Amino acid sequence: MDRFIIRGGRRLTGEIEIGGAKNSGLKLMVAGLLTSERLVLSNVPGIADIKTMRDLLVGLGITVEDAGPRTLSIGGEIGSVEAPYDIVSKMRASILVLGPLLARAREAKVSLPGGCAIGTRPVDMHLKGLETLGAEIRLENGYINATAPDGLKGDRIILPFASVGATENLLMAATLAKGRTHIVNAAREPEISDLVHCLNAMGAQITGEGSGTLVIDGVEKLHGAHYAVMPDRIECGTYACAAGITGGDLLFVGGRADDLGAVIRTLEETGVEVVEEARGLRVRRSGTLQGVDIMTEPYPGFPTDMQAQFMAMLSVAEGASMITETIFENRFMHVPELNRMGARVNVHGRSAIIRGVPKLSGAPVMATDLRASFSLILAGLAAEGETQLSRIYHLDRGYEGVDRKLAACGADIARVSD
Ligand code: UD1
Repeated sequence: MDRFIIRGGRRLTGEIEIGGAKNSGLKLMVAGLLTSERLVLSNVPGIADIKTMRDLLVGLGITVEDAGPRTLSIGGEIGSVEAPYDIVSKMRASILVLGPLLARAREAKVSLPGGCAIGTRPVDMHLKGLETLGAEIRLENGYINATAPDGLKGDRIILPFASVGATENLLMAATLAKGRTHIVNAAREPEISDLVHCLNAMGAQITGEGSGTLVIDGVEKLHGAHYAVMPDRIECGTYACAAGITGGDLLFVGGRADDLGAVIRTLEETGVEVVEEARGLRVRRSGTLQGVDIMTEPYPGFPTDMQAQFMAMLSVAEGASMITETIFENRFMHVPELNRMGARVNVHGRSAIIRGVPKLSGAPVMATDLRASFSLILAGLAAEGETQLSRIYHLDRGYEGVDRKLAACGADIARVSD
């Protein structure tokens, strides 16, 4: 197992190239299930989750070929409708093959994902929505067995919560359903708009993205397309915190301000400056960091996927901050690890109070999930002395070349294998 060794205290300067978005690339690959023609995706990030999705699609009989740098060509006939436990338990986004398989093959057998480190994460909204579209669903032996012998039929689905995954699953399923589907209280994340644009390029008829109500007119077939995955707003926001916590000056090549609204506003409140430039976003800090209060919310609110990184930064800010997590019930696993590095964070239910300290100190710490892992890297970059971060396979799932990108900007970070 690999570890990172970080010696803190260096100010980061330079440029970081922002890769394709993990949370979009994964769904766009699944969209390839909706047609037998080739879907060619460019700007696909080189991360472990993409490899897992590739394995899942190949297991379903789909061909996934490298078609150039960061480019995948996906297509073919569905040979199996089963998403097995070993892959779904490794990556929850596997549940997204359920809707497309039902729409195209009229049946699907997908393992129930179960809980995960950040909470119980049920899939009830995915299942209820598909039932509204006419699917018959039985839960047996840990699997979702779904059929739609006469095909799916468009209907009105009202989501009780704007779930990203449920919106995506239902959206993809509805593209091939008979008639019109409304998804009310749909998630509005930029990754959903990216999926809509890709599906429309494949011949789907979808309107309303970003408005909270998606209207999908089912079509008989989708066709092949070429599509570039959007830049990763969470990767950009994460490295922005690296500039913030080290008092650095970084240019994020390809970073887009439009996707980062609430994150940019919060960075500015903490005293970090964000400037749009022709090649991307520049983020720098020259003054002191100030404490702020943050509440995670569905987009366009502050993203839960940025909460842990901001907590690391606020742990060395002046004054107190409060972070309230409203999306996942157990997303403060980084707190004990940050406290081992000298942070003063107390958790009360869904809120964490962070009392800023002048300095963190390096320590051996353990990664627990993708974003939490990065909060410990950020703390390590600012801490006095050496931080050893173990279990970094969590990071490799979603961030490409972390050590390379940070070292190029002056960080002292090395990957070592046990
Ligand atoms: C996606 C992102 C994840 C991000 C999250 C919220 C991917 C691969 N993952 O996850 O990085 O943190 O959006 O922005 O894109 N819920 C239910 N029933 C359901 C579905 C969801 O209760 O049927 C609950 C979940 O347990 C959670 C909340 O709704 O508490 C939000 O989940 P959701 O928006 O669906 O997140 P994901 O799609 O799993």
